[in-house]
Amino acid sequence: MSTPIKILSVFGTRPEAIKFFPLVHALDADERFDSRVCVSGQHRGMLDQVLEIAGIVPHHDLDLMQPDQTLDALTANLLTGIGSVLDQEKPDWVIVQGDTATAMSGALAAYYRKIPVAHVEAGLRSGNIHHPWPEEVNRKIVGSFAALHFAPTETAADALKREAVDPSSIHVTGNTVIDALHWITTQIEQKPELATNLAGLEQRFAGKRIIGVTSHRRENFGGGMEAIADAIRRIAARDDVAMIFPVHLNPNVRKVMNAQLDGLDNVALIEPLDYPHFARLLDICTLMLTDSGGVQEEAPALGKPVLVMRETTERPEGVDAGTAKLVGTDADMIVAECNRLLDDQAAYDAMAQSHNPFGDGKAVARIVEALANG
Ligand code: UD1
Ligand code: UDP
Repeated sequence: MSTPIKILSVFGTRPEAIKFFPLVHALDADERFDSRVCVSGQHRGMLDQVLEIAGIVPHHDLDLMQPDQTLDALTANLLTGIGSVLDQEKPDWVIVQGDTATAMSGALAAYYRKIPVAHVEAGLRSGNIHHPWPEEVNRKIVGSFAALHFAPTETAADALKREAVDPSSIHVTGNTVIDALHWITTQIEQKPELATNLAGLEQRFAGKRIIGVTSHRRENFGGGMEAIADAIRRIAARDDVAMIFPVHLNPNVRKVMNAQLDGLDNVALIEPLDYPHFARLLDICTLMLTDSGGVQEEAPALGKPVLVMRETTERPEGVDAGTAKLVGTDADMIVAECNRLLDDQAAYDAMAQSHNPFGDGKAVARIVEALANG
């Protein structure tokens, strides 16, 4: 047998870990590869929640997170930290996912060493470098030199082709988040005790429709977060709904949400959920109110409408398919659209029954074959 291809997977935040773990499982199980994992620790607690449930023990953990970290200090530490792991490991390929500071810095450190980069979730573009910020630029940087681009959809592949990326380096795979969601759903079916911790809230809110909420975007800090909190307070004034809001650990999110929403009867501000419990929240909710990227992809897969609290989205497929609607960060607009879905059954059904455009759960298999032939 020929020498295995040495792959270094580099990630560091919760969403990257969720979208990476099915790929790490597959690479570990395939003897064509020597699979190594480096986590930056850009996130700590929220990363560890995923590593634990997925059973991944990284070969390298840079443990970089600082409280309320700045983009420049984080990026500098990532570049030198990942660089020294690359000097040690000398992999044949580096894989990064998405558009975080870890993904951009990991790719750049590989490029500086002339190590080819494979980019998972390539080609997402909002067309606005300030929304999402700084992710739009991060993924453009990775896309400008990656040797393999794993585009989740045809729309993403087309965006890369418009940027003159060699079409033979682009593979349309679906999004690995759907693979992750299938995996966790099977785990919960086999071990229901993995996702029972919401039972108390389910009992407290029995008879009410649950709205799941997440919010963390940097471009929404300040006025955007205040408006989101205002909208949540107004929606929660209805006596037929309850909001379950696992609050991101970013202090810029927590200080606003705790100050504005703590103690409201119909709002449960809770700690970030591990992935099985978040899957449970997606299952029990009537709709999701979010500014998250990943949640825009997962909720449609479970037939849950998503109101996206952003000015623009790099995931237009959800909006085009009718499963997601952009509501921005204007409180009146968020409240109006939420009430419309709660009060107009036909509008709700139209969104809930739309087709999920983000993949069939076989993205990882396609990525692995492309890497083997890479
Ligand atoms: C990061 C990513 C963003 C991604 C998001 C997912 C960048 C620039 N941003 O944003 O693309 O959508 O993660 O959640 O890469 N913190 C903790 N514990 C944790 C995680 C975060 O305490 O487990 C706190 C720390 O104070 C940290 C702060 O949150 O400094 C910000 O973390 P950071 O990764 O810089 O930004 P996010 O807003 O999480
Ligand atoms: N998620 C989670 N627990 C939570 C909130 C979200 O496991 O309390 C998961 C969610 O299922 C999705 C991912 O985290 O897969 C989204 O992460 P986030 O919103 O932080 O980042 P983004 O996707 O916007 O980059």
